[in-house]
Amino acid sequence: MATEKSAVFIIFGGSGDLAHRKLYPALYRLFKAGMLKDHFAVIGTARRPWSNEYFRQTVVTSLEDFDDDKRMMENFAMHFFYQSHDVNDSDHYIALKQLASKLDDRFETGRNRVYYMAIAPRFFGTVAAHIKSEGLKTDGYNRLVIEKPFGRDFKSACDLNDALSKAFTEKEIYRIDHYLGKKMVQEIPNLRRKNPTFDKILNNEYVSNVQVTLGESLGVEDRGGYYETAGALRDMVQNHIMQIIGVVAMDEPEVMEADAIHEIKDELFASLKDLTPEEVSKDFVRGQYDTDNMGKLNPYRKEDKVEEDSNVETFVAGKIEFKNDRWENVPFYVRSGKRMPKKSSRIDIVFNEKVADLGIRPNTIVTFFIEPEEGSSILINGIDYQSVKQDLIKYPEDPEIFNDAREAYESLIIDILAGDKANFTLWEELKSTWKYIDVIREQWDKESPKFPNYLSNTMGPDTADTLLEKDGNSWIWN
Ligand code: BG6
Repeated sequence: MATEKSAVFIIFGGSGDLAHRKLYPALYRLFKAGMLKDHFAVIGTARRPWSNEYFRQTVVTSLEDFDDDKRMMENFAMHFFYQSHDVNDSDHYIALKQLASKLDDRFETGRNRVYYMAIAPRFFGTVAAHIKSEGLKTDGYNRLVIEKPFGRDFKSACDLNDALSKAFTEKEIYRIDHYLGKKMVQEIPNLRRKNPTFDKILNNEYVSNVQVTLGESLGVEDRGGYYETAGALRDMVQNHIMQIIGVVAMDEPEVMEADAIHEIKDELFASLKDLTPEEVSKDFVRGQYDTDNMGKLNPYRKEDKVEEDSNVETFVAGKIEFKNDRWENVPFYVRSGKRMPKKSSRIDIVFNEKVADLGIRPNTIVTFFIEPEEGSSILINGIDYQSVKQDLIKYPEDPEIFNDAREAYESLIIDILAGDKANFTLWEELKSTWKYIDVIREQWDKESPKFPNYLSNTMGPDTADTLLEKDGNSWIWN
């Protein structure tokens, strides 16, 4: 049985979609596992004037897809309280503070607080400032959880960080990148550590190129409004793709602990090779989806809340390089797109011929499947060689850990409750990745792309293939 944790969660945006789709089910699984039991409470806050009873009903409804244990769900929901709230109104924070301290006493939570920002990013700074000025912080722990996007460029990320830093220390801030909560992404550092041969060949002597693809079959669905302000580069590359590259390419930390991991990740991102505007045009391509070949699906420009002449990209592919001893001259090809033929998040590491010196077949490809299937496989010329897999990558001895079907949010909330920041993004990393992305964005904003340029249910624009062909390479997933 898991060790019980105690805290009051204050969920800003507690009536919203993220809270109901991700957070409440994740908290419920922790409740079922005994990690949350008697000493926790959840306050949902949002503008709507809901009663506790109504709020609890919505919580139970959000769990019905996952469970049918009505009693358990109702017991869980009894820990939920609703407080109607206007983010700019100081009096509301005072009411929130009173409720939170009442619940501290009632549930004996150790006055630990998790402030969870499941609201629009423009409110992050205001809410954090009020938490401090109205004295919500306690003498227990005070952890602030921030969803993405963390800014929309380097400057706005700095402004946001400055605002948050006035109320919370870096140690108290947990910036979520839900890809870092995914099982396979978390497993890569373990696999590297437990397989010295594998780790030994992860460098420019043996790796020809690395490919990271986060492909989705869905379009922007009902998120057109947000997506128009973001685009695939900001939405997927600056955060998820960069963090995945981080776990693959970072040096081996001395110990698998948050500080050590972040130190070497900072170094890695600080060594991103600067791009000139010419290199942006040569090494990065973008696309926007059209309808499918039957003319049934909406083109991006016809999606709800999307401008008819929008130039926002729904696909991006590019070549990222590092200027450090380990990775100099190894291209990291990255790609992410909406309306690709299927959902697939994967990493392909393509080795060169030199691995033959170590008794490994030349041109071996190690593929990590992050989603929807999870696991790793070794493909040699497209054939899955299970036997080689056993030689090169051994699974951790404890199959329980590897097979644990923990959902990303559940795993990240466990880390927050444990005060473990290894799987969160630190400010230094963000600074480097935003600076890098800004150069691409600025160059793109000067040009007018010819959109739409790829049909739905295809692998994106042809230029994404040419990008690799120019280097004599090709996408492993194509
Ligand atoms: C989110 C993006 O961060 O990640 C979405 O905003 C994207 O646009 C989603 O669809 C993909 O996450 P997952 O876990 O479904 O691969």
